[in-house]
Amino acid sequence: MSDRQRVILVTGGAGYIGSHVVRVLLEAGYQVIILDNLIYGHRDLVETILKVELIIGDIGDLALLDHLFSSHSIEAVMHFAGFGYVGESIQHPQKYYRNNVANTLTLLEAMNQASVNKLVFSSTCATYGIAQTFPITEKHPQQPINTYGKSKLMVERMLKDFSQAYPLKYVCFRYFNAAGAHPDGLLGEDHNPESHLIPLVLLTALGKRESISIFGTDYPTPDGTCIRDYLHVMDIAQAHLLGLEYLLANETSNVFNLGNGNGFSIQQVIDTSMDITQRPISVNLVNRRPGDPPILVSSNEKARQILGWKPQYPNLEEILAHAWQWHQKRHQITDLT
Ligand SMILES: NC(=O)c1ccc[n+]([C@@H]2O[C@H](COP(=O)([O-])OP(=O)(O)OC[C@H]3O[C@@H](n4cnc5c(N)ncnc54)[C@H](O)[C@@H]3O)[C@@H](O)[C@H]2O)c1
Repeated sequence: MSDRQRVILVTGGAGYIGSHVVRVLLEAGYQVIILDNLIYGHRDLVETILKVELIIGDIGDLALLDHLFSSHSIEAVMHFAGFGYVGESIQHPQKYYRNNVANTLTLLEAMNQASVNKLVFSSTCATYGIAQTFPITEKHPQQPINTYGKSKLMVERMLKDFSQAYPLKYVCFRYFNAAGAHPDGLLGEDHNPESHLIPLVLLTALGKRESISIFGTDYPTPDGTCIRDYLHVMDIAQAHLLGLEYLLANETSNVFNLGNGNGFSIQQVIDTSMDITQRPISVNLVNRRPGDPPILVSSNEKARQILGWKPQYPNLEEILAHAWQWHQKRHQITDLT
């Protein structure tokens, strides 16, 4: 069967990472169907940029899934649909166990029933909890400290058990911090509410926010601010294509970190953003937040070696320049409507 005939169901494909993956899948010749309830997804981007079939519905709707799998010849599922706000997950665990765990179980049941046996899943570095060794490899103990991380770890465990009992094979990607935007400026990050550092910094540069807070300047790092691993969303998307092809070719399950492999401090992100945007960015220095580890940096060796993946945009400047281009365009458009 040629790749052109292969149909991939992308849950959450109207969201940030999923929409970039859809672009890459389409360019590689796959046919894509998006299933998204649009709670956070963007219908305008699917209709004007991605131009693929969008099914507006919920992954927890078993009848909808049964109909979808019986009416389309779906080769594999890429599963991005889920919630990802750490603070909210602690305040509303029910919401996270329902959507990230129970609804994913419904998806797995429907896939099993329909003999759709290949899945690519979005997990997170939050499953590792407080890092004990650096860089963090896939063998690092998984001891999540928040409900979000726990909910994703539960799915990882379900996948392992399902793959042992049923024909399911999966690739699980543990992302560090997704960042940046499509280099053509037509897709990017537009979360509401926004909780990620880079869009918050750039929205401040755009005048959409008054200031950005730095939580803690007394960490044991060169400039005292936390260090995080930011990976360009196009590098995440490329890894998903390779992960899908690995799954289709090998029929073997595997787990990979997706990170830059280099850390950037919060201060470095803000300073570089001021250089790129040529605008002032007002900063509030506040106390540390509980549960923020000083440094989180991934090892990405496993994905490099097994998938042949290599980040194409590892520089912070390029990540920020692409994100800035997107935010400028997006906000002009949003402001006009
Ligand atoms: N953004 C990151 O840095 C990051 C890091 C680690 C893991 N992840 C995970 O990657 C995935 C994608 O993240 P993102 O930043 O693109 O998030 P996003 O919110 O932009 O995209 C998720 C999409 O899923 C949809 N959705 C949510 N629940 C649904 C449901 N029950 N049925 C159908 N659609 C549903 C939303 O409408 C949204 O379009 C999430 O599962 C997230 O937990 C993201």
